[in-house]
Amino acid sequence: MKRILAATVLLAGAAWGAENFSDEQLKARFYYDLGVSQVDASSYPKMQQEEYAVFAKTCSQCHTLARPINASIATKEDWKRYITRMHLKTKTTPNTSFSKEDARLILDFLTYDSNIRKVKGKKDFDAKTVELKSLFDRVLAERTRRQNERDQKKVKAAPMPGTGVTPQP
Ligand code: HEC
Repeated sequence: MKRILAATVLLAGAAWGAENFSDEQLKARFYYDLGVSQVDASSYPKMQQEEYAVFAKTCSQCHTLARPINASIATKEDWKRYITRMHLKTKTTPNTSFSKEDARLILDFLTYDSNIRKVKGKKDFDAKTVELKSLFDRVLAERTRRQNERDQKKVKAAPMPGTGVTPQP
C-alpha cells in the first residue's frame, strides 16, 4: 500500500514537471547535507543534552549540522578522526575555532547520539539514507539542467563565429 502511494506521489510529481529545490538544497555537497539539521535531544541524559549545545554551536561554523547528523559515521573511533580533521580546518579558516575540551564533549555527544539514532535505530536511519541519496541524485540532475541552460544562453549570446555579429534574441 505504501509502495502504491509512493509511486502515485512520484507520478504526480512527474506530471507537475520539475521538482522545486531550495537554494540550500541546490548547494548541497554531500547527500547528508540534505537531511535534518537538528536532533531532538530532549530524551537524552542531561549531560548529553548539554554536550549537544556545544556540538550545535561548534560544528555549525562552516557547514550545517545536517552533515554530521545524517552522515553514516557512527563509531567513537571514526568520530575521533573526523573531529581531529575538522579541528585542523579551523586553523586555516578565519574566525573559527574549538578547544580540546569542546572536542571531548562533542565526541561524547556524537558517540551517544550515533548509537541511539544510527546503530539502535539502524532501520529508520538506513531508510532515511536511501531517501536522501535519491533526493541528492535529483538535486544533481537539476544542477546539471540549470548549468546546461546557462551554457545555452552563453552560446546564443556569443558572436557568430567569423562574423563578429551577435545574434539578437
Ligand atoms: C573550519 C570549518 C569546519 C568546522 C568548524 C567543522 N567542519 Fe566539518 N567540514 C568542513 C569542510 C570544509 C568539509 C568538507 C569535506 C572536507 O573537506 O573534508 C567538512 C565535512 C564534514 C563531514 C563530512 C566528511 C566526509 O568526508 O564525508 C562531517 C561528518 C563533518 N564535517 C563533521 C563536522 C563536525 C562533527 C564538526 C564539529 C566538531 C565539524 N564538522 C566542524 C569544515 C568544517
